[in-house]
This record gives sequence, C-alpha cells and structure tokens, in this order.
Amino acid sequence: MATQHSRGEQNAENYVPDTTWNQQLRRRLLNWFDAHARDLPWRESRDPYKIWVSEIMLQQTQVETVRPYFKRFIERFPNVATLASSDEAEVLRLWEGLGYYRRARQLHKAARVVVDKHQGNFPTDYDEVLALPGIGRYTAGAILSIAHDQRVPIVEANTIRLYSRLLAYANDPRSTEGQKLLWDFAEHILPRKRTGDFNQAAMELGAKLCVPRQPQCHECPVAALCPTRQQGLQEEIPVAAKRVDLTDVTEVAVVVRRNNQILLRKCAEDERWAGLWDFPRFAVATDETKTLDASIVSNVQRLTGVTVATGPKLTTIKHGVTRYRITLECYAAKHFAGRLKKNSECEWTTTKQLEHYPLSVTGRKIAKLIAES
Ligand code: ADE
Repeated sequence: MATQHSRGEQNAENYVPDTTWNQQLRRRLLNWFDAHARDLPWRESRDPYKIWVSEIMLQQTQVETVRPYFKRFIERFPNVATLASSDEAEVLRLWEGLGYYRRARQLHKAARVVVDKHQGNFPTDYDEVLALPGIGRYTAGAILSIAHDQRVPIVEANTIRLYSRLLAYANDPRSTEGQKLLWDFAEHILPRKRTGDFNQAAMELGAKLCVPRQPQCHECPVAALCPTRQQGLQEEIPVAAKRVDLTDVTEVAVVVRRNNQILLRKCAEDERWAGLWDFPRFAVATDETKTLDASIVSNVQRLTGVTVATGPKLTTIKHGVTRYRITLECYAAKHFAGRLKKNSECEWTTTKQLEHYPLSVTGRKIAKLIAES
C-alpha cells in the first residue's frame, strides 16, 4: 500500500512523484472517466472556441446551470467572429442570470483580440492564450489540454480538493505554499497523452465523488491510492476556506416613469454591474429610512440628472451578492423636472423595450413586475 511518503516528498520546492503510484492514478482516473464522463454540450467537439466559452462560464458556476446558457450562447455566437462583431450588450443579455458579468465582458474583448491579432484563430501558444483578457493559468490550461491535448496542468476548485486529498495536504491549499505544491503536483501527474481527458476526469471526480462533505470514497477509482482516505481524514482535508462574514446592506431602486416611458441607466465601469443597465439604484444607511423620500430625489438627480416626485413602494427583494446580504426596496417615482445628465448613459425606454437591455437578476425581476402591472 502506498504511504504518504512513497508518493513523493510534499515539498513545494521539488515535488517528486512515485512512478508506480502515478501510473496507477492515470490509468484508474482515465478508465473511470471513460465509463462515467457526463454528456456535456461542450464535449461534443474539440473546437477551442467552444471549450473556451464553456470554461469561462464554468468559472464560479455549476455545470447544470451552465448547460442551457452554453447552448443559447453557441447558437447565437457559433464562432469567434460572430462573437467579436456583436455588441457587448447582446453578449451580456445572453449572460443574464449567470452572474460575474465581468467574465462575459472579458470574453467579448478577448474575442476581438483573437480576430484582430490572431486572424480569428484561437492561439495555441500558452503565453498568447494567457495574455487574453479573462484567461488565467487555469483556463489556459483547460483550453489547451482539452482542445489540443497539450501537456498543461490545471488546478481549480474541484482539483484543489482532490489533489489536497491525494497529497494528504493538511495546510491551507489556497496559501502560496499550497498553490505551489498543487500546481507542481498537477503537472507531475499529467500523462503524456490524453491530458485533456485526464484534467477533465480529475475535475469530474472532484465534482461527483470527491465532494467537500462525505466524499463517496467507496465508489472512487483512486481510493486505494489516497492517503487521506487511509487516514480517515476526508472531513479534515482540505481545510475549510475562511468563512466570509456577510454584511447587511439596504439599497433602493427607483422606477421612474415619464408618460409611458421608464428611466434606465447604464452602470459605470467602477460599479458592481458594470456594463449592465439598471433602474437608478443606490445604497442607504439603515438609519436613513426616515428621510427616504428626500434621499430618492437627491440620488436619482445625482445619478440621472432628473428630478422626481416619489411614489409608493412597489416591492422588497432580498438577495445576496458576494459578501453582501442585500435588502432592495423598490419605489415608484414620476419625472417631475429636468433632463438627463449630459454624458451619463441614461435612457428613457418603453416597458416592451426592457426585454433588450441586459439587466441584473433583480433588475429583471423589477422589469417583470412592471410588465405585469
Ligand atoms: N469544471 C470546469 N471545467 C470543467 C470540465 N471541462 N469538466 C468538468 N468539470 C469542469
């Protein structure tokens, strides 16, 4: 039986894997993948463009959530040229609900770079891939290994867990030392062939069996190779990430009407929903609610230039974004005086046209509410 030591020194400086252990790992993982790989739409081809899109969507998002988004996206933008020539707003509209919209904006920017700088061919050189907006070490490795079987490693959420357990690494795998060790390990265990399948197998095993709590070791093809399993430390390794403390925030969104039109503004570059459109929205201190009417008037003015007369409350939406627990109070208001601020990206639009603007999830909820009332 392999001991912790026989898989190689757990030394971030020079990780040396044990050859027999390594061969077993590769063979078992690939055999398991051959039998259990999920049918996923981006696995139907090895088109780097499609793999790229899928990997960007899969950053921070579960496979099952991504599935329908990926299909719609590829139907509308079947190749890099169609994506590059589209408007950012349309890309964001298709991304609506997936969150982390910066991913979509960078994907769109990168598509333009691929067309302008690489004649529309997704680069195959690692450093050129890494230089594209929105592509880090993980994504570059995923694309080049899956599309071209280049021998490049990957480390992401699922493989952090799997590899920490295969190394019985008891320290924090997100630390500098932990990352160095995991990336070294990921590189050393890669086979020479089928590197894309190997990387995907590792992610898949992490997602399906080597899960954070109560991993399904009895079904795991590499359980016999796993020192964490042997020591019964599955619940301890990897150490949990620090819990983030949630902060309560109250925000106000204002539906401003002028005749049959509604006021929208485009979120600025430094705002949470940069690139998306929104109803004028602002944060209020919780003790500010007494003067809410005045606050609505001054904030709508600051954001859009127009003066409003405040109306009734429409609804309250509770939602979370990153480390914020947000209570969003939605109010109606009527245009009272003034024009849209010069150089601000604000527009009067109809209820029907709202369909075409990319909105945040809560923005879309408000839009639906308006359409139904
Ligand atoms: N998570 C991110 N990319 C993945 C892939 N290609 N296969 C399985 N899980 C993934």
